[in-house]
Amino acid sequence: MMIISPSILSADFGNLQSQLEQIELGGADWIHVDVMDGHFVPNITMGPFIVNHCRRLSTLPLDVHLMIEKPENHIDAFIDAGASRLTIHIENNPNVHRTLQAIRDRGIHPAIAINPGTPAHAIESILDQTDMVLVMTVNPGFSGQSHIASMAAKVNKVREMIQTAKTETIIEVDGGITADTLPAMYTAGARAFVAATAIFKNDAGIVPAIQLLRQSISD
Ligand code: DX5
Ligand code: ZN
Repeated sequence: MMIISPSILSADFGNLQSQLEQIELGGADWIHVDVMDGHFVPNITMGPFIVNHCRRLSTLPLDVHLMIEKPENHIDAFIDAGASRLTIHIENNPNVHRTLQAIRDRGIHPAIAINPGTPAHAIESILDQTDMVLVMTVNPGFSGQSHIASMAAKVNKVREMIQTAKTETIIEVDGGITADTLPAMYTAGARAFVAATAIFKNDAGIVPAIQLLRQSISD
């Protein structure tokens, strides 16, 4: 089992429709939408408007990653816009348990993201509220950053925690994922892979880029 979730942060927005067609053609499983508010992270990107645009242009599930303060104030807007999965961060988020429940109550998949500087045990008590743990392999804010390979140890720890909790939770990794960095993350236990640069900025083209990622674990 391997899920590829191209992050449209590096897509050509002037040609979004054809870019989404290309990722579907390449066999992508989800579309990753990076939402940044300029507070939780230094960058500002997109909101429910773009999520809804993607919803109308593609049938792939929308994997929406909220890097925003007070995500509880915005989950309804993102779900109404068509999000299939909503990931919120554990950091600086006192209402995380209630917000994950609220996401599930609205009938979509709740997930928790964890920054490189946050230890794995921070998410232990809310693991049963999530369908997915997103282990960040860069500090969130921008695409095109260097992958932090030492996060494999955290992926491993989270995998052990999931085994102990006996939940069906899957692990996603996000940041600097390429055909070179993906295999170690897969071995550590990740099964969903986000990539922006490696897919949308690949000279080979979007379709071969997705295939390269997928083939990286069978070589
Ligand atoms: C980082 C975002 C990532 C980012 C990945 O803040 O959450 O999804 O777009 O970009 P690459 O694959 O270029 O590291
Ligand atoms: Zn992301």
